[in-house]
Amino acid sequence: MDGTKATGYGKAENVGLSSDGKKVVIIDQTELPARKVLLELGTPGEMYDAIRNLKVRGAPAIGICAACCMYCLARQIEAEDMDTFMRELTAYGDYLDSSRPTAVNLSWAIRRMLKTARAHMQEGRGGVLDVLGRECRNIQEEDIAMCRAISEYGLSLIREGDGILTHCNAGPLATSRYGTALGPLMLGAERGMKFKVYADETRPLLQGARLTSYELLQAGIDVTLICDNMAATVMKNGWVQACFVGCDRVAANGDTANKIGTSGVAVLAKYYGIPFYVLGPSSTIDMDCTTGDGIEIELREEEEIKKKYYKHPMAPDGVKCYNPAFDVTDHSLITGIVTEEGILEAPYEESIRRLFDQKEIR
Ligand code: MRU
Repeated sequence: MDGTKATGYGKAENVGLSSDGKKVVIIDQTELPARKVLLELGTPGEMYDAIRNLKVRGAPAIGICAACCMYCLARQIEAEDMDTFMRELTAYGDYLDSSRPTAVNLSWAIRRMLKTARAHMQEGRGGVLDVLGRECRNIQEEDIAMCRAISEYGLSLIREGDGILTHCNAGPLATSRYGTALGPLMLGAERGMKFKVYADETRPLLQGARLTSYELLQAGIDVTLICDNMAATVMKNGWVQACFVGCDRVAANGDTANKIGTSGVAVLAKYYGIPFYVLGPSSTIDMDCTTGDGIEIELREEEEIKKKYYKHPMAPDGVKCYNPAFDVTDHSLITGIVTEEGILEAPYEESIRRLFDQKEIR
């Protein structure tokens, strides 16, 4: 895991550790596609800011970044007394966890790092640091393997020449390699298959325009960028054979939180009879959330709608804005949930429960 090797598409990780292991290195996704800037995160404030302000974004990438942050912060704790050490590490975890509420991967990765540290407390500070260093690498390696498996399963759902519509960015930048929703397309392209991808620009922060179309172009995949309000037209034209989207948190009944606008795409897909697939690792399923009503939706600043990526304000001063970063797609609109363990189908309460029962047995 070497941050300096990050490329941002297909081949290498976009989150890593500096060569001395003291800082987290990320590609600053807010600078893409204009410039590829590597950022080093050393302080808790820099780490919080990178996650909060989407310099690193996408549910799995946030989780991997948080795990690396926990390792670097653990190294900064000087206490040799392990109760004090754990108290300080837990406080860092709480702070990072408060940066964004919706993607389950953030709290999941922080909890996993804390649990690992707790399990090795008797080995002292040095032992815990060794094991945490290994654990953040494990999380990243597992993500690469999960994306690869998701890509294989997803690829089995489409045929050469199909048109695929995607929303937001669920490619390598949002994960480790391949991505989730873009993974099958990346894998298919590696095997010489051709697809036509329609990328929703994804207002207000334009992850589709800035990141998805960038990644697909880099991978040599035929991509057409559309504004979010054009999805109905490309579907009506018969140009879309499947929709592939990522996920930030999936409830135990299959309700899925993903980037704002996703549920609108799902409603349109249902109307036009187009299969709508959610792709994501099983770690994105939150069994503590019975339905989508239990998922906290992040509300973000008005500036993102009015000005953020524009030279001049795009709305009058003083106008009220509502800016939820995610929405919840009802499970009844979802044709299948593609995980690293296989493709889950309705009734989701049952297929998800079965998946978790099997995982417990292993
Ligand atoms: O606000 P963002 O850019 O972090 O939102 C990202 C998404 O909604 C992605 O679709 C989701 O995290 C899946 S990434 C594999």
